[in-house]
Amino acid sequence: MTSMLHAPRSRTPVEVDSFRPSAARMYDYYLGGRNHLAADREAADALLDAVPEVVTAAQQNRAFLRRVVEYAVGQGVTQFLDLGSGYASPGGVPEVACAGDATSRVVAVDIDPGVTAQVGSTARATGVSGRVGAIHADLRDAIGVLEHPVTRRLIDFDRPVAILCLAVLHFVPGELDRVLGPLRRAAPRGSLLAFSHAAASEAPTTTERITRLVYDCTLTPLVLRSEETLTAAVSGLELVDPGIVPVNRWRAPDADAPASTLLGGVARL
Ligand SMILES: C[S@@+](CC[C@H](N)C(=O)[O-])C[C@H]1O[C@@H](n2cnc3c(N)ncnc32)[C@H](O)[C@@H]1O
Repeated sequence: MTSMLHAPRSRTPVEVDSFRPSAARMYDYYLGGRNHLAADREAADALLDAVPEVVTAAQQNRAFLRRVVEYAVGQGVTQFLDLGSGYASPGGVPEVACAGDATSRVVAVDIDPGVTAQVGSTARATGVSGRVGAIHADLRDAIGVLEHPVTRRLIDFDRPVAILCLAVLHFVPGELDRVLGPLRRAAPRGSLLAFSHAAASEAPTTTERITRLVYDCTLTPLVLRSEETLTAAVSGLELVDPGIVPVNRWRAPDADAPASTLLGGVARL
């Protein structure tokens, strides 16, 4: 373990940094997982003291993930490129996809080396490494992800693929098209592009400021975006009903529930 405190923020870390909170480990903590360290708990607790609804948002995102993956399998799309996958855990993409169709294939991509090590070892331990692979990469290198040997082994780009960007694009600064463009061009017709994203209010709220402040301590500071910006990012694609909505209202049993702070949607290529 090594400290990366002086490493440039844009570089993909080669080792786990146990001194700096990680977005992946903080998220795992919100969800009641076991993949977190003291630095993560300290940062997450500071945030939860001020913004306790972060836990609900994380749970709503996971429920959205499940509905999206089930929707994809229902559409016959059983190949998943899971960008910013987070730790392997119950209710994650491989589990939901394989429950829907045992032949599903998943490539999990994450900037956090601890995540991809754990995803890879979980796949081996559960005997699914022939169908589930992990790539340690920054999704901003979309071409590198597409050309990676693990992607080449598991994903057939002659068949539709579900590109999942769930709760990750808000850790990616700059124009979303720089990331989404190459992915959109590589995926064949009938593919799906799903995303969830922390929404920006018209005027930044105290909650948003505190959340950004806490994530500024991580390697992946938070970038909130408006619904208009997210809609523009998928322009030219057909949005699956009901479009871009709070994640807890996307094809959910209780579509009248109070709106989540995360917006999400699925577009068809
Ligand atoms: C909040 S978690 C979401 C996990 C999962 N997608 C879900 O929705 O349950 C965000 C994940 O994105 C990863 N991440 C952040 N920036 C990234 C980047 N530029 N490239 C790849 N992964 C990234 C983090 O390490 C973390 O594991």
